[in-house]
Amino acid sequence: IDSGINLVNEINRLKVEKNAVILAHYYQSPEIQDIADFVGDSLALAVKATTLKSKLIIFAGVKFMGETTKILLPDAKIVLPDMNAGCSLADSCNYHDFKAFKEKYPDHIVITYVNTNADIKTLSDICCTSSNAEKVIESIPMDKPIIFAPDRNLGNYLKNKLKRENMLIWDGFCHVHQRFSLERLIELKKKYTTAKIIAHPECQKTILIMADYIGSTSQLIDFTINDPSTSYLVATEYGVIHQMKKFSPEKDFIPVPPDDSTCACNDCIYMKMITLKKLYLSLKYEYPVVELSPDIIEKAKLPIERMIAIR
Ligand code: 13P
Ligand code: SF4
Repeated sequence: IDSGINLVNEINRLKVEKNAVILAHYYQSPEIQDIADFVGDSLALAVKATTLKSKLIIFAGVKFMGETTKILLPDAKIVLPDMNAGCSLADSCNYHDFKAFKEKYPDHIVITYVNTNADIKTLSDICCTSSNAEKVIESIPMDKPIIFAPDRNLGNYLKNKLKRENMLIWDGFCHVHQRFSLERLIELKKKYTTAKIIAHPECQKTILIMADYIGSTSQLIDFTINDPSTSYLVATEYGVIHQMKKFSPEKDFIPVPPDDSTCACNDCIYMKMITLKKLYLSLKYEYPVVELSPDIIEKAKLPIERMIAIR
């Protein structure tokens, strides 16, 4: 790239020229969120995808999100600026192990979190995100046993909250949410006594029991907009604080740190693989493209459509 190039101007110019749409998750860097046409949580991004007419979508997020968009828009070109942007949670559930597990419990309804690779979705009855997981579980009659995968923290949180004894939970987790430090959270709470603790349900139980409010990324943002407090200890990926500050510039948002004492905040290495430079190059060359076989698209579509219908 020419060092004199203004990436923001070039991205905006190419976007118009190619009639492309940029979608970004809340965990993206501020400069990526600011250049996107739409920023949202996993559910909102999937819903938004269903309304798009553009044939070129640049997805600033991780691979499973690009795949979900491809499943919903099979005729569009979905570009992910870095194909290595995976997800530790999605990778904690592989196809062969999960298929064997599911076969042991043929009478169970399979609910999978959208944070899975596309092949896992083909084994699912219905997908969910952290925004609608509670409603999705509640849509299944109480006497029907459930398999919930792959996030054990979200699964156990909802199993207890909804008193759903007949729920089997896969033992996966997200490395970002798993590593928040209870000790460091307690230290921060002692320092900022009036700050409310807000946490994503992918966090461990030790963090969730400390939280004043638990919700998906968009629910956490909405909470900070509507709640009268002026400071928050935020236990989710750091990127979300960019939107919180935008909506409530007068409030303080303190990231809860991970258990590694050298870090002040908790970034998802996969989300942060997407840079402005990669966004520019991927838009310019329309590469790399998310590819899925027609068979996977066909089988994964129904559980995703069911997920979108429950909001
Ligand atoms: P939500 O966008 O559903 O809150 O999910 C968080 C997440 O971990 C996405 O990778
Ligand atoms: Fe996956 Fe966790 Fe990163 Fe979300 S934050 S993309 S669940 S690794």
